[in-house]
Amino acid sequence: MPRELEELASQAFEELDKISDPKELETWQIRYLGKKSPLMQLLHSLATLPLEERRITGGRANEIKKALETGLGKRREALKEAQIAVSLQRESLDISLPGQPIPLGRLHPITQILKEICDIFVGMGFQVVEGPEVEWDYYNFEALNIPKDHPARDMMATLWIDFELETGDREMLLRTHTSPMQIRVMEKLRPPIRVIVPGRVYRHEATDATHESMFHQVEGLAVDRNITLADLKGTLFEFARCLFGSERQARFRCDYFPFVEPGVEMAIDCIVCKGAGCRLCGGSGWIEILGAGMVHPDVLRRVNIDPEVYTGFAFGMGVERIPMLRYGIDDIRLFYSNDLRFLKQF
Ligand code: DAH
Repeated sequence: MPRELEELASQAFEELDKISDPKELETWQIRYLGKKSPLMQLLHSLATLPLEERRITGGRANEIKKALETGLGKRREALKEAQIAVSLQRESLDISLPGQPIPLGRLHPITQILKEICDIFVGMGFQVVEGPEVEWDYYNFEALNIPKDHPARDMMATLWIDFELETGDREMLLRTHTSPMQIRVMEKLRPPIRVIVPGRVYRHEATDATHESMFHQVEGLAVDRNITLADLKGTLFEFARCLFGSERQARFRCDYFPFVEPGVEMAIDCIVCKGAGCRLCGGSGWIEILGAGMVHPDVLRRVNIDPEVYTGFAFGMGVERIPMLRYGIDDIRLFYSNDLRFLKQF
């Protein structure tokens, strides 16, 4: 018996040395140390042996069992370490590899120009405020001297919001200009007022190279004692030179807007032909960039500001036209078609 036992042991150790995988190790454990393994069977049947033989065989068998268990433990440890070494090797980072460039995002060209415009006016003491794009008829039209049957309504094809109000016949729309914020600001603040209002506006129009149903405007409003048309001209002329270059000329001509009196339109000398006349300015040498005027006394009265004491000027400009002029972009729709090839250029 002892001889067979020794042979079994040396065979077991020999196999154990060659095992390189945890599954095999398990099989080995079952074969040599499992309940049905010859060694365990032997240990179980010791009681049937004569006393002397039981002592010798039993002692040796237990020794072998211990040795096999120790060997198993060591092997298991070694396999685990080898596995860790392999995964370390596999997952290691090669920090000498060149990096992958991360594409940088940027501000939309319209966002950039809005920021530029606001910065210029902030530098002159204006405060930036924003207002709702869904607006009441009252603020968009009525309070700006544009009652229900006023022809000025036809100039701004309106997108109406279709819903019934329990309380009455107040109507909602998508604001067609940023001017309604003049009223909202004057309802809340008392003069001196200097605000600038950037934002989106909407018109119910077919889109083409120069029209979008959504575009941006910047509104301005200054109300105080002794504000005159000269303040309006000075402020807007300075603005035009900051934005379009210090050599710019500006031209003011009469225009009509129901909420100002007098109303003007401002043009700058064409940035391409410098006034000589070209395709961009339609041969006139001038490019209109905004509407403006002295706030109408009726508008002031409506918000409880006494027109005998206070006067003000207001202006409003389309924003998309500015980068179009500056960069020679000939289609407004490019701004909102999400084409990265276009947007990446700014
Ligand atoms: N709201 C006008 C428009 O969308 C532009 C405008 C003209 C605004 C004269 C003003 C102004 O504040 O005084 O056509």
